[in-house]
Amino acid sequence: KKGADPRPPSNYTDLISTLPLEEGWAPMRNRKYQGFWIPQRALTGTLDMQQNFKARPDDLWVLSYPKSGTTWLKALAYAIMTRAQYPFHHHPLLRQNPHECVPMVDRTYSRGQAPEIEAMPSPRILNTHLPCSLLPHTIKSLDCKVIYVCRDPKDVLVSLWYFNNGLRLQSMEPIPFTKAFEMFCEGNCPYGPIWEHVLEYWEESQRRPEKVLFLKYEEMLEEPLRIVKRLAEFMGYPFSPEEEKEGVVEEVIELCSFDKLTSLEVNKTGKVLLPSIPLTNNSFFRKGGAGDWRNHMSSEMARKLDRITEQKLEGSGLTL
Ligand code: A3P
Repeated sequence: KKGADPRPPSNYTDLISTLPLEEGWAPMRNRKYQGFWIPQRALTGTLDMQQNFKARPDDLWVLSYPKSGTTWLKALAYAIMTRAQYPFHHHPLLRQNPHECVPMVDRTYSRGQAPEIEAMPSPRILNTHLPCSLLPHTIKSLDCKVIYVCRDPKDVLVSLWYFNNGLRLQSMEPIPFTKAFEMFCEGNCPYGPIWEHVLEYWEESQRRPEKVLFLKYEEMLEEPLRIVKRLAEFMGYPFSPEEEKEGVVEEVIELCSFDKLTSLEVNKTGKVLLPSIPLTNNSFFRKGGAGDWRNHMSSEMARKLDRITEQKLEGSGLTL
């Protein structure tokens, strides 16, 4: 097993136990830390990472609010960066879940396995769901590139609700959707409030567009070719005219597509590295489209959530 010499997580228990606690998304327990509801499971790693993470100038970060298309973006960024290394018919993404190819740094730190991150060869692709204000400072001071993906909050909520239902033990009923809706609207949800999360990265992308690429899940669905080319260019791995002619962009899109990833054995039956909760790789794939909120919300609920989103984003130049 990798990480044979794990560094034990530093002991931040005293601080963590003083932070406000919410258990409405049980079994997830979220604590409010500097304005955001961070899952308790990720907090030790967050604090450890803030103190000890050593950024490298060529690190690339894939960042998001959960359930916004992280898995897809991880796969795309990884496939773009490694396309010269592996043929598409023998690619690591055919055998590994995208979360294994692009690790979630705070969770790795929480498990006491920071050396795994330190041992990764450069250039690294790294991930976290932390908001911009909670990232280790060295990521910004070294001017590391960041790709952020956001999604219609209504679809994020539906996706989160299903994901959370999958985490609940058999003895637990699913959270009533109306309760999940109310908690989400109040900002009480993992890494919430979503609007502040999105806005922090949006504003950063406006200030430093050459370093922060801001994407929307819906745009990725609508125009994959344009977005994947833009992504590769931003990452510093642009497709050459020959590659474009040979259909390499399309091959990347195909390899990372919902249908391809869900057809793979590793994503049907594999398990994610979270031993204490029953999370299987297929939890990261459900419908993979836009607009499923229509099947779960009344139009009144949708209007309410849209209104909050409009109010929160007002004046920012961003619409969701
Ligand atoms: P749904 O639950 O609406 O289907 P995250 O990766 O941030 O956890 O987000 C999960 C959402 O992205 C899920 O949305 C999932 O189905 C969707 N998704 C995962 N892989 C995808 C892919 N390759 N293409 C499009 N959507 C994908």
